[in-house]
Amino acid sequence: MVDNIKNEILNLKNKKNAIILAHFYVDDDIQDIADFVGDSLELSRKASLTDAEIIVFAGVHFMAETAKILSPHKRVLIPDINSGCPLADSMNINEFLKFKEKYPDYFVVNYVNSTAEIKAVSDLICTSSNAVALIKSLPKETKILFGPDKNLGSYVKSFVENEIVLWDGNCPVHENFSAEKLKLLKKQYPSVKVLAHPEANKDVLLKSDFIGSTSQILKFVENSDNKQFIIATEPGVIHKMKEIKPDNLYIPLPPITKHSQSICYNMKKHTIEKVYYSLKNEQHEIIMKDDLIEKAKIPITRMIDISLKLELIK
Ligand code: 13P
Ligand code: SF4
Repeated sequence: MVDNIKNEILNLKNKKNAIILAHFYVDDDIQDIADFVGDSLELSRKASLTDAEIIVFAGVHFMAETAKILSPHKRVLIPDINSGCPLADSMNINEFLKFKEKYPDYFVVNYVNSTAEIKAVSDLICTSSNAVALIKSLPKETKILFGPDKNLGSYVKSFVENEIVLWDGNCPVHENFSAEKLKLLKKQYPSVKVLAHPEANKDVLLKSDFIGSTSQILKFVENSDNKQFIIATEPGVIHKMKEIKPDNLYIPLPPITKHSQSICYNMKKHTIEKVYYSLKNEQHEIIMKDDLIEKAKIPITRMIDISLKLELIK
């Protein structure tokens, strides 16, 4: 059954000149069928460069929206329209505009995990992979408003001299990782390396050996001779780790609740069947007003241009 669906997806993809982009947090079988799996920065780069007429985006809503902003003449489809990001959705545009009014001479840097409305009133967008480098590239006198993720913002703050005012938001998946359980696991596995996403809470980040985006964490595993890793990001990323280094031990860091893993249920709303129906019926299309696309594109394009200049992407 699953093999049939996979074959159908491949046929439809060729027939319709479509490409499937997927984030590391979606189900393994979607990652396996995707043309490209990557972090937010890599995915937006792929979306802006593809020749395909249709992009099926297996990721949360802001990711598909970013693809549409960068490729407005393409049809961008999302397999489950309800796959939102609570972090992005927590930043209400009216509240943010009031916050911004209090800091009129500040440069607004927002994380890509934000809605298009928020991007449209931002000066620069960043992702977890380039936030530190982008902010380092600004003059140190530039005062910055940063949102919505305060963990990423605090992490960036530790590298620069700029004054940075943080929006008080976080990702429920990363905020809830347990520093206590991490301490116990480190005792149990003395040679383990702890790899964390900068959205994780400060106590976990302080106990980590490496902090980076999903792709950067994966690259760390690829280049490391270590055999044991604690993964302090959504465990979907372990699928590719097992593909690259199958004999290693990967321990997903548990949350403070009694669950064994901290899951992004929004990413898991996509299923291989929904990817199939998305392609077959050309549903659910991301539709955006032209003026919103134009305004939101400015800070995203600025991010891509600086990232190219700094050779963070090709
Ligand atoms: P990456 O850009 O590192 O893949 O992160 C996206 C995300 O939503 C992390 O929670
Ligand atoms: Fe959003 Fe957190 Fe899920 Fe990432 S892991 S998509 S930040 S809810």
